[in-house]
Amino acid sequence: MAAIGGRERGEIMAESMQGLKRSHRCTEVSTAHIGQKVTVMGWVQKSRNKGGIIFVDLRDRSGILQIIFEEADCGRENFQKAERLRSEFVVAVTGRVEARSGAENKNLATGAIEVRAESLRILSESETPPFPIEENSKTKEELRLKYRYLDLRRPDIQRNLILRSNIAILTRQFLAEEGFLEIETPTLIKSTPEGARDYLVPSRVHPGSFYALPQSPQIFKQLLMCSGYDRYFQLARCYRDEDLRADRQPEFTQIDMELSFVDVDDVLDVNERLLHKLFKELLGVEIPQPIPRMTWQEAMDRFGSDKPDLRFGMELKDVSSVVKDCEFVVFKGALENGGTVRGINAQGQGAMPRKKIDALVEFAKGFGAKGLAYVAIQPDGTRKSSFAKFMTEEQMDALTQAMEGKPGDLLLFAADKNKVVWDVLGNLRLEIARQLDLLKKDEYQFVWVTEFPLLEYSEEQGRFVAMHHPFTMPMEEDWHLIDSDPGAVRAKAYDIVLNGTELGGGSVRIHQNDIQSKMFEVLGFTPEQAEEQFGFLLTAFKYGVPPHAGLAYGLDRVAMLMGGCDSIREMIAFPKVKDASCMMCEAPAPVDEKQLVELGIEISDEADKSM
Ligand code: AMO
Ligand code: AMP
Repeated sequence: MAAIGGRERGEIMAESMQGLKRSHRCTEVSTAHIGQKVTVMGWVQKSRNKGGIIFVDLRDRSGILQIIFEEADCGRENFQKAERLRSEFVVAVTGRVEARSGAENKNLATGAIEVRAESLRILSESETPPFPIEENSKTKEELRLKYRYLDLRRPDIQRNLILRSNIAILTRQFLAEEGFLEIETPTLIKSTPEGARDYLVPSRVHPGSFYALPQSPQIFKQLLMCSGYDRYFQLARCYRDEDLRADRQPEFTQIDMELSFVDVDDVLDVNERLLHKLFKELLGVEIPQPIPRMTWQEAMDRFGSDKPDLRFGMELKDVSSVVKDCEFVVFKGALENGGTVRGINAQGQGAMPRKKIDALVEFAKGFGAKGLAYVAIQPDGTRKSSFAKFMTEEQMDALTQAMEGKPGDLLLFAADKNKVVWDVLGNLRLEIARQLDLLKKDEYQFVWVTEFPLLEYSEEQGRFVAMHHPFTMPMEEDWHLIDSDPGAVRAKAYDIVLNGTELGGGSVRIHQNDIQSKMFEVLGFTPEQAEEQFGFLLTAFKYGVPPHAGLAYGLDRVAMLMGGCDSIREMIAFPKVKDASCMMCEAPAPVDEKQLVELGIEISDEADKSM
């Protein structure tokens, strides 16, 4: 086998594929092939030379297969080549499948067989990689992301991306069978002020003007309904300039859909069947049909969160009425200020050491609590408490009873405005569950959260903002409150929540111009501003628009939860890090002065200094 001229590197040659064809991926070879000739190709995971006999673990995206080289089978030239193999060399091996000569490796799919090599081609050499390519890598994430193309060779990441691909393919199949059309919408669009911050793209042709990258295809999919496409979907790339977290990336993918002539139940039904199919076919998990529903109010009252984790209890209890006459200023003050006192019962945690309780208090303060009051019920039924001295024995009894406190339990209370109490106890509940290892990754608790408030008051902006987006339909029975008590109006909006993560969300849309105009008014838009921002949508709706509704999932999040991962970075081929940069290609980066001049852009001194 000759190397192509000029390709020689040292003594090892990068050989070609000429005349060679892969017959199987590594783990497609099985005991059924014993005695047969196969040609496999991949990367050398490791190579062990035991003198006269060389074992090579060959890896491709399917897994690992053991190759065995002996001079008697493969000849001198091939054996000498095999002696030079190092990790990550790319090779092609032709040989005969046989039962393992040594002990069977139960950890490998191909553990009962090996391939006795007859010929070897070294298709490419490798330098020593900066970190070992191995499952559950201990290497620092920054280094892995700098060399993401190597990191992506890890079997666990390969499994993740294969799962993601399967989710996308099955989703397409399912939605196509349900009569959805896949339609692309533009990614250079107009900036809108609602929602997260936009990524902007300067226009060369219109100096001083900018496109925005879409935060979602929302307006376009509504226009498609207006145009009669009936059922649309898209695996849509979305961009949001917001602070990154484990489940947030600046660019991410939505499974986005919109349906005409439907109401809430129709959207939930088709999505329950989609989720059922994905979990059944990809994980073998049967999820309930229908998926349970819970109103936003119930979710907040019971779990302190609009994305409740239902894998464990420890529900919030409102004890305001129980403590209303007590002398404890913390409780009294909160109630007088229109707040509430609520608690959770961490069952069996009554013996938690003081230091650990103090750490929980600090944790609660991180979510805006001024403190955390506690009662630790001792095995003999006596109580240790941070506030018993301000309470009568009867009041403490009533409180314990309201919390269903038993000997050995730890009761934790927060007193404040509702929003703070929910946030504090909702997060505390999760933190305690994490500490007690109650969050099992192979348990899947789905819930629809419905009837979200239409609006929420933004202290920062001094006005109401849309909780979902400005096109969300209010509930008919609440609409009369829009002027007198806008905060009390509920919306036909829903989120699909799995194990405390929001997988997706959507709503029925406003298709009546009068309701839409009123919404813009409540949101503080003048008619001119509404026209300027959304004129084309409002005009479109004058020409006959069907009632419509939709939903979008974060595909990355769906994949993360199905893959049992803690971060969507594990599910994205080339993710960005916390400061929204790419460690590998080093984006974002300054551009040529010439490009800036073309765009009519000057970098201010201040921006220059911060670079
Ligand atoms: P929403 O803003 O709720 O709704 O987004 C839908 C879903 O997208 C995912 N998601 C993200 N995933 C990763 N990184 C991010 N930064 C990020 N932001 C959102 C979440 C979320 O549930 N147009 C509406 C949908 C509709 O009404 O039909 C929308 O975009 O999983
Ligand atoms: P103090 O009298 O301020 O020392 O508070 C007595 C107890 O009440 C301490 O355990 C505090 O952590 C707790 N506490 C203070 N503020 C609150 C609050 N807003 N909600 C619940 N407990 C609180």
